[in-house]
Amino acid sequence: MKILVTGGTGYIGSHTVVELQKQGHKVVIVDNLSNSHRDVLHQIEKISGVKPDFEELDLVDIAKTGDFFNRNRDISGIIHFAAFKAVGESVADPLMYYRNNLFSLVNILQNMKDKGIKNLVFSSSCTVYGQPDKLPVAEDAPVQMAMSPYGNTKQISEEVIQDTAKVTDINAVMLRYFNPIGAHESALIGELPLGVPNNLVPFITQTAIGIRKQLSVFGEDYNTPDGTAIRDYIHVVDLAKAHVIAIDRMIEENQKKKVEIFNLGTGNGFSVLEVIKSFEKVSGEKLNYKIVERRPGDVEQVFADTRFANDELGWKAQKSLDEMMLSAWNWEKELMLKTKN
Ligand code: UFG
Repeated sequence: MKILVTGGTGYIGSHTVVELQKQGHKVVIVDNLSNSHRDVLHQIEKISGVKPDFEELDLVDIAKTGDFFNRNRDISGIIHFAAFKAVGESVADPLMYYRNNLFSLVNILQNMKDKGIKNLVFSSSCTVYGQPDKLPVAEDAPVQMAMSPYGNTKQISEEVIQDTAKVTDINAVMLRYFNPIGAHESALIGELPLGVPNNLVPFITQTAIGIRKQLSVFGEDYNTPDGTAIRDYIHVVDLAKAHVIAIDRMIEENQKKKVEIFNLGTGNGFSVLEVIKSFEKVSGEKLNYKIVERRPGDVEQVFADTRFANDELGWKAQKSLDEMMLSAWNWEKELMLKTKN
């Protein structure tokens, strides 16, 4: 089965390509390389033994996207990762986010409709729940007003997919990720944040290795046991595996509904201080951090009710927080070696 992975040279995309290939799928990647490198293709090949087909393409470009689909008539499913994802940047330049994240999705859906491609896995986010009233949060919790244009593109995308699936043959699985972290155990692929990282774990590893001076912990006055905010961190390989199950489920026509939504998390919430402690334990490094003000727009705590994904997909996240932090640290050390050579 040939699967199109958009954004397949990116962080979650590259790990998913490896897992698809492991399961015997043929993969074609499209990516505009705006936040990733062509070299990732070689790294994927080193892990899986297979170099995926690749085309540099901006999915916002209607003509070039149509041409790609005309030349690739044997695609049986699409896993759509390609999108911008920096919250702060989306606040500063909302049009860039709406154009990139929404136009590309519309182009993909149009081509799916025109060419009879039925199966779409979409990268969504737990950000659609905002601060849920009930924890752990299940898939039927209400979607709350988005805190940023980035979050809004995820909400609108989900609606665009729902509306389109109603009147076409297109089926979709929308995966709401909690906080993906860590890297492949080979340390050949991982996250490559552009500039100063927004997210906690790359900021921790960059601080420990000396790229950043100090980590700021955003707030210790939350209503949580140690006062810092709580998230559901999930290893990127666990997440990648869920995508393979989701696309197979559609190809094998096992869905129960045309559009299904699953939370992808571990079900465990960890505070910022617990994440730091885990990092210090597995790395043996002392982390330089200080407590500062809350970051605007952050929710206090969110973690997943994973029962639906566990029962329906037969999938469960396996990796512990310590394993996640160790893989993130090994990846950071590998990156440092690479830049020195
Ligand atoms: N944090 C720090 N210091 C940092 C970075 C983060 O203390 O330097 C804290 C945050 O305040 C938060 C936790 O670490 O409590 C996790 O923050 P991340 O930025 O790693 O992740 P978020 O939970 O903020 O991000 C998630 C998703 C995004 C989504 C966002 C919406 O990963 O896709 O929620 O708020 F957009």
